[in-house]
Amino acid sequence: ESAPVITVDGPSGSGKGTISQILATKLGYHLLDSGALYRLTALSVLKNDIDTNDIEAVAKAALELDVVFEPQIDGEQKVLLNGQDVGVELRLDETSEMASKVAAIPEVRDALLIRQKKFRQSPGLVADGRDMGTVVFPDAKHKVFLTASPEVRAERRHKQLIEKGVDANISHLLKGIIERDERDRTRTVAPLVPAEGAFVVDSSTISIDEVVQQIFDFIGFSE
Ligand code: C5P
Repeated sequence: ESAPVITVDGPSGSGKGTISQILATKLGYHLLDSGALYRLTALSVLKNDIDTNDIEAVAKAALELDVVFEPQIDGEQKVLLNGQDVGVELRLDETSEMASKVAAIPEVRDALLIRQKKFRQSPGLVADGRDMGTVVFPDAKHKVFLTASPEVRAERRHKQLIEKGVDANISHLLKGIIERDERDRTRTVAPLVPAEGAFVVDSSTISIDEVVQQIFDFIGFSE
């Protein structure tokens, strides 16, 4: 029998990264930040000057990613691409933009599928992304879909970037978020939609702790 999976899907800035880290830590589960794999593919494309029209080359970059995730004590993960810490680069606007582009290529999604499934290991996995409950782990034990208003998400991303020492502009971020949402929702492969039976939580006006509590209530876990 395969290890249990909890999927947490939603748009960027919905809080799914933070929430997933907390869930994984409290449950003692592994964590898959699938967005990081798309961002890493984007970085690899940018660093190697790969033409995004060359689908074969982009898919190859996805397939051959040399990446290591190192869990830190605080629940964060250190991400090493070819042995180099790319934590800050992964979050840059340029990377987000390219990630959303490469994520729309079916061959890239296929290349990353097997890699993602390998994260399913005992005692369990919290998988965070866009299509964790619909495509990658359709048989997940519990599925969660997190949302938040675009404005709240832009504010959160802004705060995140500033904390990392990256210069950012809220209205610019908001525009990017709305555009990417549109692209993620309407693309033909793995569009961003709640999985059937997903527990939907809007985190716009409630705290992280409240979101976590609602999810624990949903999965029937008490601390
Ligand atoms: O979640 P995050 O913002 O890091 O994801 C970066 C990009 O990767 C998103 O724009 C989205 O298009 C893509 N993505 C995806 N499927 C996933 C995770 C992320 O298409 N499971």
